[in-house]
Amino acid sequence: MKGLILSGGKGSRLYPLTYTSAKQLIPVANKPVLFRVIETIRDAGITEIGIVIGSTGDQIREAVGRGGRWGVNITYIPQDAPLGLAHAVKISQEFLGDERFVMFLGDNVIQGGISPLIAQFANSEWNSQIVLTRIEHPEQYGVAELGDDGRIIRLVEKPKNPPSDLALVGIYMFDHHIFDAVKAIKPSWRGELEITDAIQWLVEKGYAVHPYIHRGWWIDTGRPGDMLEANDLVLEEIEYEIEGYADRDSTVGRRVRIEKGAEIINSVVRGPSIIGENARIVNSYVGPFTSIYHNVTVENSEIEHSMVLEHSEIRDIEARIQDSIIGKNVLINKSPIKPKALKLTLADNSQVGIL
Ligand code: TTP
Repeated sequence: MKGLILSGGKGSRLYPLTYTSAKQLIPVANKPVLFRVIETIRDAGITEIGIVIGSTGDQIREAVGRGGRWGVNITYIPQDAPLGLAHAVKISQEFLGDERFVMFLGDNVIQGGISPLIAQFANSEWNSQIVLTRIEHPEQYGVAELGDDGRIIRLVEKPKNPPSDLALVGIYMFDHHIFDAVKAIKPSWRGELEITDAIQWLVEKGYAVHPYIHRGWWIDTGRPGDMLEANDLVLEEIEYEIEGYADRDSTVGRRVRIEKGAEIINSVVRGPSIIGENARIVNSYVGPFTSIYHNVTVENSEIEHSMVLEHSEIRDIEARIQDSIIGKNVLINKSPIKPKALKLTLADNSQVGIL
C-alpha cells in the first residue's frame, strides 16, 4: 500500500501567514501539520509516500527532504495549479500504479488511532474506504448520506441542505478504480475536479465504498480559528517534559514541555503549553494553550492561548496577548520614540485587534 499527501493548494483563507509559508508547514503544538500526517501514514506500515506540491513546493521539499528522518521514501508530484483533490489523484497515477493507497489532506489534523484502520484497508475487499465524522456545520464540507444498512447512498460537496451531519474527513482509501472515476468526472462550478464526485461515481458504478465513522476530534486547519483550535486539541495531550532550563524563580505548570536549549527566567508558564528549542521566556507569563516555537523571545510580556512562530520577539508589551497567531520573524515591542502611538508594519490581509 502507498500513501499520497496533498500539499499543494493556495491556502488563501490563511493569508497573510500563507503568503510566505506553506500552510501544511505551520507548526501545531510545535510540529508542522504535514509531519504529523507523514507519521500517521508511517505508523500504518507504509513506506512509499507521494506528496503533491504546488507553488510552495520548494519549501515543502526543503522541510521534508527524502523522508529518511521517518524511515520512508518521499516522491514529489508537482501540480501546475490547484485544480482539485481529484485532479491531484489523476496526476499521481504514475506514482501510485495499481497499488491500493491512502490519501491524506496535508492540512488536516486528526486525533490518533487511525493508523490501524489504514493498515486494515490494505487487506480488505473494498474498493474504497472513506472516513466520516459528525460535525455542526456540514454545509461547509463534503457530506455523506448513509442508508439504514449503513451503506453510502450519496455524497455531496458543500450542500446548502445537508442530507446528514456526516462530513468527509480528509482521509480516503482507494484501489486503482479511482483512476477511472477521476477521468470520468467533469469540473464542478468552482472549476475543480472534486473528490466527492469521483467517490460518488464509484458508488454509482457499484464499487464497494465503505464508510468508517471516526469518533475522536478532527480539524481542517483552513482558517486561523481552526489553527488555534487544532493547537488546543493537540496541546491537551501534552505531558510534562523539561529538556531546557527553568530557573528557581520560575513556575512551570504540570502539562508543559520545554524543548532543548529553551530558557525560562523569572517567569510563569501554565500548561498545557510548549516552549520550543532555544526560545527565551524572561520576566513573562505564558498562559495555557500557548505554543512558542523555536528561537522565539518573550520578555516582560504576557501571552495566552496563542501560537508564535520561529524567530519572533515580543518585548515589553503591557497588554496581554491572547487568541493570536504570530508568524515568523515578527517583532512586537514598545517604542520609546515619540509620539506615543501604535506604529505598525503589517502585510496585506493582516488582522490586529487593539484594546
Ligand atoms: P483546500 O483547503 O481545499 O484548498 P487550499 O489549500 O487551496 O486553501 P484555500 O481554500 O484557503 O485557498 O485544500 C486541502 C488540501 O489539499 C491542502 O493541503 C491543499 C491540498 N490541495 C492540493 O494539493 N491540490 C489541489 O488542487 C487542492 C484544491 C488542494
